[in-house]
Amino acid sequence: KITPIILSGGNGSRLWPQSRAFYPKQFLSLFGDKTMLQNTLERVCESEIYSPPVVVANEEHRFIVAEQSRDAGICLDSIILEPLARNTAPAVAVAALNALDSLDVEEDALLLVLAADHVIINANAFKQAVLLAKESALEGKLVTFGVVPEHAETGYGYIKSKGNSGVQPVEKFVEKPDKITAENYVASGDYYWNSGMFLFSARQYLSELNILEPSIHESCVSAYQAGVKDRDFIRLSEEALEQCPDNSIDYAVMEKTNSAVVVPMDAGWCDVGSWSALWLLGQKDDNNNTVQGDVILDNVENCYVHSEKSLIAAIGVENLVITESDDALLIAHKDCVQDVKKVVKTLKENN
Ligand code: GDD
Ligand code: MG
Repeated sequence: KITPIILSGGNGSRLWPQSRAFYPKQFLSLFGDKTMLQNTLERVCESEIYSPPVVVANEEHRFIVAEQSRDAGICLDSIILEPLARNTAPAVAVAALNALDSLDVEEDALLLVLAADHVIINANAFKQAVLLAKESALEGKLVTFGVVPEHAETGYGYIKSKGNSGVQPVEKFVEKPDKITAENYVASGDYYWNSGMFLFSARQYLSELNILEPSIHESCVSAYQAGVKDRDFIRLSEEALEQCPDNSIDYAVMEKTNSAVVVPMDAGWCDVGSWSALWLLGQKDDNNNTVQGDVILDNVENCYVHSEKSLIAAIGVENLVITESDDALLIAHKDCVQDVKKVVKTLKENN
């Protein structure tokens, strides 16, 4: 069976002011009544395919994770707690060590690494891609899931493959290229977006990491071994994690490995990374606006307007994001929403 590993340690700063460090976006219900973490868990609950999932999250969020899983009726295998964030390469490493912990040396575990903040509309297409990927993961490949790009997004990884259908060897993996490079990639038609989901065996990942980034491997082994288990919680050692370099799985492993393959996935995938992604995903009115909450619009086009408490009225504007929470209001041009994280940075510096 496959063990789902849900990475839930990001702080979602581009969705400020709704997403806050103490309550990031993966714990919010931005679509429908379930939170993004709950939707992610429900995607991998078929017990014939999957073992109970493991969530890797910041220690501060332990009760939110436990409560949201319980409310969704999902029994987690465990929750691995990070006293500090070191990005995804270490988060996956400790999950791999944990999966192997109770196994004999000749046994291995298959891990499906998922972000907690992705939307996938077609659950069946996702499942078929995972089943196809499983065969390659069993052969020792690091499987990525490729999405046909829709625009020159600079926040994603890009994958060039050898071949054009089924499981394809990765020729090149480029994490977060600049705008011009991304435009060239999309125009060439030769690249997939990296969806940020991975399937591989725990031993294979750890052995690649040990070769490519030995210091991450070493500090993760220490952080896990010196960790403390308390019922479902596994708290990693803060001292050991402090020594760990901060790096994502994409830069640390996927860009450098020779064992990567890509499985195409056409499942209505979207990383809910920014307010414009929510506008893209949302239901539109006749003027192409996405609206949530108590909102009145007059002569407004292509806007995302989200009210939680107050009534928001907008007149004669276009291409804006307007969103308010308890104590803050954001007004931004829809093309500048990546910069919301700069606001969060300024707020942190001033605190
Ligand atoms: N546990 C833990 N610890 N989780 C983390 C940490 C950490 O330190 N940092 C990030 N995460 C979680 C986030 O909450 C998210 O669910 C997932 O890991 C991916 O992190 P992001 O920070 O959202 O990555 P990204 O969107 O910039 O880039 C990745 O995803 C893209 C697609 O969504 C890369 O894999 C790109 O190549 C990919 O295109
Ligand atoms: Mg992301």
